Amino acid sequence: MDSNLSRGHGAVSIRLVRSRDARVLQNELLTNRAWLQPWEATSPRGAGTIDMRLSIRRLLQQHRDGGGVPLVIEYAGEIAGQLNVWGIARGSLESATIGYWVSERFAGKGITPTAVALATDLCFFELGLHRMEICMRPENVASLRVAQKLGFRYEGYRSRFIHIDGDWRDHYAFALVREDVPDGVLKRWVEGRVPPTAGEIPAA
Ligand SMILES: CC(C)(COP(=O)(O)OP(=O)(O)OC[C@H]1O[C@@H](n2cnc3c(N)ncnc32)[C@H](O)[C@@H]1OP(=O)(O)O)[C@@H](O)C(=O)NCCC(=O)NCCS
Repeated sequence: MDSNLSRGHGAVSIRLVRSRDARVLQNELLTNRAWLQPWEATSPRGAGTIDMRLSIRRLLQQHRDGGGVPLVIEYAGEIAGQLNVWGIARGSLESATIGYWVSERFAGKGITPTAVALATDLCFFELGLHRMEICMRPENVASLRVAQKLGFRYEGYRSRFIHIDGDWRDHYAFALVREDVPDGVLKRWVEGRVPPTAGEIPAA
């Protein structure tokens, strides 16, 4: 896969994670425990320790194998969090899923929606993917807002879908396909053309 995956809009940019980001990322994870833990993926096989160096090595190996695009999110040149495109399925699916976090001090500045828009456009228009999915726990209002702002379409409820914070948790699934955004996710959002009802969750 191409390793020149940097993109930016305003003060927000995304780029491929590097081994030398380990120290900064590990420090952010450790100083943001209470903020991140309720939403953090865990292993059903038991608790592991945070080893960023190992985690980045694994992510980059998956990237070389074509399975993912592990990015960091930067704000004004400072690492604000991570955005991971994972589970890339090629062939008749051409689909992937996005996960993300930012440190608490960067929250509420529109950084994540910008990064998700940049990453989705990169995947659709340069890496040839057709569908991008975002899943979150129903109680994660902030993450729900990210999907809704960008007009990801609500696609359903997945019971006990992902192991988060020590147990199998129900999730909402949202998705976009390339035909939804012929001019790109970012352009549609910044030009205020996201259909107002796109991300609505049906009452039933
Ligand atoms: C979910 C998350 C990535 C959103 O990122 P962000 O860059 O703050 O996104 P936005 O700036 O668009 O804010 C999204 C929502 O967060 C909430 N929010 C805003 N400022 C906030 C703050 N200071 N603290 C907490 N939540 C805040 C608001 O509900 C906002 O929606 P609104 O703009 O309609 O009011 C971020 O809250 C986060 O990293 N949370 C912890 C990890 C996590 O939940 N990851 C996602 C797992 S699915």
